[in-house]
Amino acid sequence: MGTARIVFDRWDGRYAARMTDVRSSAVRDLFAAASRPDMISFAGGMPDLGGVPTEAVAAAARDAVLYEGATALQYGSSEGRPALRATIVELMAEIGVRLPADDIIVTAGAQQGLDLLAKVFLDPGDVVIAEGPTYVGALQAFSAYQPDVVCVEMDHGGMRIDLLEVELARLGPRGAKFIYTIPNFQNPAGVTLLPERRRRLLELAREYDIPVIEDDPYGRLRFEGGHVKPLRALDDDVIYLGTFSKIFAPGLRLGWMTAPHPILAKVLLAKQAADLCGSAYAQVTAERYFAGTRWRRVLQGLTRTYAERRDAMLSALEEHFPAEVSWTHPEGGFFVWAEMPEFLDANTLLAEAVEHGVTFVPGSAFYPDGRGRNCMRLAFCYAEPAAIEAGIRRLAEVIEDRLGLYRAFITAGALPAVEGGAA
Ligand SMILES: Cc1ncc(COP(=O)(O)O)c(C=O)c1O
Repeated sequence: MGTARIVFDRWDGRYAARMTDVRSSAVRDLFAAASRPDMISFAGGMPDLGGVPTEAVAAAARDAVLYEGATALQYGSSEGRPALRATIVELMAEIGVRLPADDIIVTAGAQQGLDLLAKVFLDPGDVVIAEGPTYVGALQAFSAYQPDVVCVEMDHGGMRIDLLEVELARLGPRGAKFIYTIPNFQNPAGVTLLPERRRRLLELAREYDIPVIEDDPYGRLRFEGGHVKPLRALDDDVIYLGTFSKIFAPGLRLGWMTAPHPILAKVLLAKQAADLCGSAYAQVTAERYFAGTRWRRVLQGLTRTYAERRDAMLSALEEHFPAEVSWTHPEGGFFVWAEMPEFLDANTLLAEAVEHGVTFVPGSAFYPDGRGRNCMRLAFCYAEPAAIEAGIRRLAEVIEDRLGLYRAFITAGALPAVEGGAA
């Protein structure tokens, strides 16, 4: 998937300027390395499909063609099929958001929602506020529209609203085109935005008249603690992105967006230009899969599996990682974020880790400006508990090696330089 093999591009100089800053996703680039059979991958946030009942999906897909082929194989409406939107209405009600089907459009995953929102909102130089670090796919989608992404730091309670307030005061009313947030089990940090911070964020967004985009792919994968109401449940003006990728299967490429009608109308125009309409076949298959109750048991099973893997990762980190490294304790989702001492660079560590048979994504992938070099995202969703233990042990050895070098420096009275040459 990466562009690494391109050595000479004879079309260089003819591409639109907006593609200049669009970087290949580091996560997708790692897929190649991760496919080695002995590799333990903490890199991609790939859902575990082992728990998804393939025969039930096959039956849904077959029946979609056999009984609804005339519509499933035809072009459909750009908004998405009414039956799937009715399913989404029910899913949203279960997380505390009541809304009519007309307020929803079906998208090709939440990723398409991000791209369409960037397309309708962003001109070059516009300011976008996001958490720092933030979802690499959002950075990639936004970057084609050349915004200035301002990252607001997080702590264990999610985005630091005190720092958001400072940024908003600096930028002034309507000073940003939107605030992008992943409040539940954030990708990549794994932290969840505290309820009181959710309320304050919305107050500030109103005060400064800035739309809020809530991206919530992991909200239903909670292992502990009570459900926290989504921002959209607290404010009808919030733009909400949902997806079937983590509760069903990412291969169907199905997600949804709810937003105030004027915004949805613009997004729909952008979607028509992008793909005319989503796959009716995928939608009918999902409708049939979600028509029964089995998906609930499947989701419970998936959540249990991810919880076990989270536990395996946290105890392995506790046991093997050096004391100089700290990490987050996610209550759900897919990711742990680990922070090493500032003088270590996860990018250079990665090459060694790959040699030791383990991958992760270096933290700088999740910032627009190269910050996060001493951090790493560790996805616990994909590897089995025993592999997680082995992988963390391998990674700990690599980090220990580096730290050993620096400890020797410090003992000798020399201050370690930041890896990679930066001061
Ligand atoms: C925060 C976040 N947003 C959006 C997406 C994209 O999801 P989808 O498969 O629905 O396009 C992901 C996928 O990992 C994600 O982590």
